[in-house]
Amino acid sequence: MDRIRIRGGNRLKGEIPISGAKNSALKLMAAALLTDQPVTLKNMPRLADIEAMADLLMQFGVTLNIRRGAGLGRSDTIRLHAASIESALAPYDIVRKMRASFQVLGPLLARHGEAKISLPGGCAIGARPVDFHLKGFEAMGARIDLADGYVVASAKDGLKGATFEFPFASVGATENLMTGAVLARGRTVLRNTAREPETQDLGRCLIAMGAKISGLGTNEIVIDGVEKLSGVEYSVMPDRIETGTYAIATAIAGGEVELIGAQAETNGALIDLLTRVGTEVTQTNRGLSVHRNGVRPIGVGVTTGVFPAFPTDLQAQFMALMCVASGASRIQETVFENRFMHVPELARMGADIKVEGDVATVTGVAALKGAPVMATDLRASVSLVLAGLVADGDTVVNRVYHLDRGFERLEEKLSGVGADIERQSA
Ligand code: UD1
Repeated sequence: MDRIRIRGGNRLKGEIPISGAKNSALKLMAAALLTDQPVTLKNMPRLADIEAMADLLMQFGVTLNIRRGAGLGRSDTIRLHAASIESALAPYDIVRKMRASFQVLGPLLARHGEAKISLPGGCAIGARPVDFHLKGFEAMGARIDLADGYVVASAKDGLKGATFEFPFASVGATENLMTGAVLARGRTVLRNTAREPETQDLGRCLIAMGAKISGLGTNEIVIDGVEKLSGVEYSVMPDRIETGTYAIATAIAGGEVELIGAQAETNGALIDLLTRVGTEVTQTNRGLSVHRNGVRPIGVGVTTGVFPAFPTDLQAQFMALMCVASGASRIQETVFENRFMHVPELARMGADIKVEGDVATVTGVAALKGAPVMATDLRASVSLVLAGLVADGDTVVNRVYHLDRGFERLEEKLSGVGADIERQSA
């Protein structure tokens, strides 16, 4: 099993290309099931999760062609063609590896009238149920049964428009219902919806396919179902979590890095926070430039929340930065329970963190020490890499398959700006 070795102490300098957003790309791929015409997705990141979604879609009869971009910063283009749906079974083996597989439920129900999807696994961050998805589809007239770990859903006469309010502004449930409603009979009104940029990206792609959607980026989305959607050529938005991760990497290691393709408008909470910590973030004509000189970062508190609040997917990375800040910081996680699994691993590197319920109190230390650590989930594992950039000596992150799910060529991107990092194949 591969591992990543980081020797701390190097400042970062140069540029890092930002890839297309994983959390948008996966849902756009699932949306290709909604039309019998080809869907071409540009700016696709090269990740294990994208491969898992490709495998799943091929099981449904989707044909898939990938044109590989050559070199770092040259993205892949994927053409998906769901001429007909030959099977609507999403097996446990695929869904357990990646929770986003569950997003095929809406498109399959809408186009095919039935689906059998394994209940998801994915990162071990809390219970992560799918009850909002299922209640929403029931409100749209689907019949839902649970059998042997599978969701068996059917809407023989098609989905019908409904009004549904989410108990929490869930990203996945909003997107799943949205992709079901675009081909439903009549009007669907979704309330308390996710406003995340990736949800908006999916909505924009559906509109380009002929869907009638209004209210993207607000907490009420209205969808008027149409008979058919057409194919599309669409470019995936830049990954704001990857952007944030490399911005925090620069803040933790010090130096100056330009993040090519990064957006300021989808990273507002992060930019505010990094500025308060003592990092300079400026917009350039190619993206964002992040700069921190010798001065130690300042301890600043943060609470995660739904967009536009600070993203839960950057909480672990920000905590790594706070581990070496001057003073204490209070980090509250409100989106997922049990999303502090990086804490014991950071503690192995000398961090001083106390957890009580959903709050972690971090008291900055002058230096972290390299150690062998274990990746537990996607974002937690990258926080250990970031801590390794500033730790004395070597940090070895084991179980890097978590990283490969969501960070494209991480070690190449970081070594390209001067970090001492390498992948070691076992
Ligand atoms: C998506 C992102 C993930 C991000 C999260 C929050 C993808 C592939 N993943 O995950 O990276 O961390 O948004 O921004 O896009 N919940 C329920 N019942 C449901 C659905 C959700 O109780 O039916 C709860 C979850 O357990 C969690 C909260 O709602 O506590 C938010 O989850 P949700 O927004 O749905 O996250 P995901 O779509 O799974």
